[in-house]
Amino acid sequence: MNLILMGLPGAGKGTQAEKIVEKYAIPHISTGDMFRSAIKEGTALGNEAKTYMDKGGLVPDEVTIGIVKERLSKPDCEKGFLLDGFPRTVAQAEALETLLNELNTRLDYVLHVQVPTEKLIERLTGRRICPTCGATYHVEFNPPKQEGICDNDGTELIQREDDQPETVKNRLDVNIEQTQPLLDFYEDKGYLVAIDGDQDIDEVFNKIDETIGGLA
Ligand code: AP5
Ligand code: ZN
Repeated sequence: MNLILMGLPGAGKGTQAEKIVEKYAIPHISTGDMFRSAIKEGTALGNEAKTYMDKGGLVPDEVTIGIVKERLSKPDCEKGFLLDGFPRTVAQAEALETLLNELNTRLDYVLHVQVPTEKLIERLTGRRICPTCGATYHVEFNPPKQEGICDNDGTELIQREDDQPETVKNRLDVNIEQTQPLLDFYEDKGYLVAIDGDQDIDEVFNKIDETIGGLA
């Protein structure tokens, strides 16, 4: 199954992606995660991406499209994939269509996780992540068993650099502006499914699971 998870920053894409890939055993392709690991490794790609991410802006299309092309061309994507945070612009969506045609495949669903903007700020500022395994928590809505410690591996949790309140505001503004044309693009193609993301994490997953379950 070939899926896209769309939603504003903090909508719960990463949280739901963890559950989807666990159940359906498809690779999770998050451009945000790819950029963060490049930054950690200090590569040229990481250094370039960091200048945009630190301000809450978007990394240029040609850079982002390039890394996704490379990733989707790997053999493990033949059984399907879950794209998280890509595409984010119509130019990226068009490039993806071309690539999928070349790979002789097509999308099944674009899942749009919807959450009112005012709730996104508290989700983002309360988020904590594990630098070892990438698990995502929230100090109030999804706390680890032991405060500040990852359930999976005992690592101390950290806050993402772009979750500082000043950056969060810009990220939301930039993404709100890009979203509507992208929704129109996928609505026209008939792939778009709206998912109410303003409910418990498990309830959101149940809704997604109902939608994609028929494909498995
Ligand atoms: P990226 O990593 O994709 O970040 P984002 O889109 O800003 O999304 P987030 O990861 O912040 O949120 P999420 O929806 O995954 O929410 P989560 O599940 O963590 O991108 C980062 C940056 O990289 C971009 O700003 C850009 O610079 C660059 N970039 C990436 N892709 C790009 C592209 N295609 N083009 C150009 N640039 C690109 O949940 C948030 C919090 O809420 C967590 O604490 C979680 O525990 C909690 N939570 C989740 N679900 C619920 C729920 N149902 N109820 C209560 N709390 C919940
Ligand atoms: Zn961990």
